Amino acid sequence: MKNQNYIDLLKFTLTDFHRMEDVEHKPLINLSNSFASYFFNLFNNKILKPFNLELMKRFNTSKEHRMNGLDWPASAETMIGLKRLENIEKCICDIVREKVDGDFIETGVWRGGAVIFMKALLNEYNLNDRKVFVADSFEGIPKPDVTKYIEDKGDRHYQWKELSIGELVVRENFRKYNLLDENVIFLKGWFKDTLKTAPIQKLALMRLDGDMYESTMDALVPLYPKLEVDGYVIIDDYNGIPACKAAVTDYRQRNDITDEIMEIDTVSVYWKKTN
Ligand SMILES: C[S@@+](CC[C@H](N)C(=O)[O-])C[C@H]1O[C@@H](n2cnc3c(N)ncnc32)[C@H](O)[C@@H]1O
Repeated sequence: MKNQNYIDLLKFTLTDFHRMEDVEHKPLINLSNSFASYFFNLFNNKILKPFNLELMKRFNTSKEHRMNGLDWPASAETMIGLKRLENIEKCICDIVREKVDGDFIETGVWRGGAVIFMKALLNEYNLNDRKVFVADSFEGIPKPDVTKYIEDKGDRHYQWKELSIGELVVRENFRKYNLLDENVIFLKGWFKDTLKTAPIQKLALMRLDGDMYESTMDALVPLYPKLEVDGYVIIDDYNGIPACKAAVTDYRQRNDITDEIMEIDTVSVYWKKTN
């Protein structure tokens, strides 16, 4: 039986919910504009550093935003917010109750908070033989390949250094929560290269959070056939990024998937695979 106090505390900690203020500060090197990043980096290192000072960017946020996964936190391990963590908990609870076989995966992990949470729940339910796959480039989002995926035209996520979190940082985040073991499997690289050949037999839960059409389709095609009946698929950006929704719509149409799509919050959705 899971310890609900521990799980609730994890949700607040992984989102920084209790400690956050309405104004957070982020390092300027994370700006999307590389000229500005270069300039501020130079200014920080050459002028300010000797005085132990650093320029930071202020941005406004709120608990309401953090609850709904609408901001990119300065230091929390996940940006998906409390409601989407609760959705992961609900899905895993159902999977356990209905004895659905298979491992868990998130494609697009950023600092790792959502997969850390999956692993904590697996441990709490004593599902010690299940794996958690942690799939990411660990260097951000790919440049749009418009020859293949016109839906991604104009997508600028690849310019955001803030989305580029190294594998070592994510491993360290698992370690901080004492949740890194041999059942946490890192799949480093672009989804189009890693997911087809990943050592995945069956999945009970797949959570897609790669923002683009390409990243969503490159995950659905190799992974959805491995999802067990009664397993869950979660699409983080469905109502937030039209190209992501288009990939899901295309995939569902091509494969005659009619399972009901359910809303988690204003951005994310999920469905249960029924056949
Ligand atoms: C929005 S962040 C994920 C947020 C995360 N799920 C959380 O809990 O905070 C998107 C992540 O997807 C990764 N990503 C996007 N497209 C990718 C692709 N095609 N291949 C590999 N990684 C990708 C990026 O590196 C980034 O870490």
